[in-house]
Amino acid sequence: MSTEAIPNLTAFDEAALDQAFAALEQQARAAAAALDTPEAVEAYRLQWLGRKQGRLNEVSSRWLKAAPAEAKKALGQRFNALKAVVESLLDAALGAGPSDAALAAEALDITLPGTRRLTGAEHPITRTLNEIVSVFAALGYSVGVGPEVETDFYNFEGMNFPPGHPARDTQDTLVVAGQERRAQRDRLLLRTHTSPVQMRTMELQPPPVRIVIPGKVHRNDAADATHSPIFHQVEGLCVDTNITFSDLKGTLDHAMKALFGSSVKTRFFPSFFPFTEPSADVQISCIFCGGKGCRKCKQSGWIELLGCGMVDPAVFAFAGEKQPAYDPKKISGFAFGMGVERIAMMKYGVSEIGQFYAGDMRFLGQFV
Ligand code: DAH
Repeated sequence: MSTEAIPNLTAFDEAALDQAFAALEQQARAAAAALDTPEAVEAYRLQWLGRKQGRLNEVSSRWLKAAPAEAKKALGQRFNALKAVVESLLDAALGAGPSDAALAAEALDITLPGTRRLTGAEHPITRTLNEIVSVFAALGYSVGVGPEVETDFYNFEGMNFPPGHPARDTQDTLVVAGQERRAQRDRLLLRTHTSPVQMRTMELQPPPVRIVIPGKVHRNDAADATHSPIFHQVEGLCVDTNITFSDLKGTLDHAMKALFGSSVKTRFFPSFFPFTEPSADVQISCIFCGGKGCRKCKQSGWIELLGCGMVDPAVFAFAGEKQPAYDPKKISGFAFGMGVERIAMMKYGVSEIGQFYAGDMRFLGQFV
């Protein structure tokens, strides 16, 4: 684009004016012909028509001022004509749109392969969790949730782990800082199990209760092939009149068959949990060897899968503070809790728990 300075005019007769304006028009036309981008068009507009530093403004302030009175009219007419030319050049440049070369570069190439959209899928943990929940939903259980940041009362005390009870040590977790001024039962921590939602459920509704509670839990456990400090559980609670250990056995035996196949057997071993009495660990016959004994079941033919028991009267007593209908003389119940990762690892033959959390598409893609 021409940037030649505007010369001073010394002669103001018609011939001199014609010549001076013709030179400017020629520069304006040459510059307009070279405009090829929207940015260049805008720069041209500023260079010629800009209110302060535009060339036409300069012509008007320098030439018109210097002109003797009798030449001003002739100069003004030529100035207006030049301005009209510049404006129409600019209009033409603005309306011209992108050049053919620019269009060619942007054109749609229909011979290129398309962009494939990947379909999403449920994460294997979510899928397993939903599967467990739906086994119990089919038995008439409802589904509940509770907070992951829980009070000491719901996580421990209400579940019959009194302050200082050694069973607390087996479920060490992160606690929220700066709560020294609160009573111990009100202090917040990351819940170590889904069991506190048993108490939350009972406080909100009188018996009968049949509920499963899926959720995330936290423990101070070193990560290894089968442990993660964050994992998932499904809790279960059934409270009614005349609920017995046989109901517990029948329910869990059915659930294990629904999850792992109808040939799976279950057996119950005495165990301890503060919130159940009696308590049991449930083992299922090894799904890898059918019970004959293999590396997976350490040659025993059995795999330990979940904890359960009859709800301890002490737990009903805490619930009874808000819902007197939880009177252990009138009602009874059972509870159970299972680890979702452990069940997913068995169902899908996963040997490293960390695979569930790594976000590696080569792993996750197998579950689509
Ligand atoms: N809360 C126990 C844990 O995380 C699991 C459990 C065992 C839950 C027995 C129960 C139960 O409801 O009855 O280790």
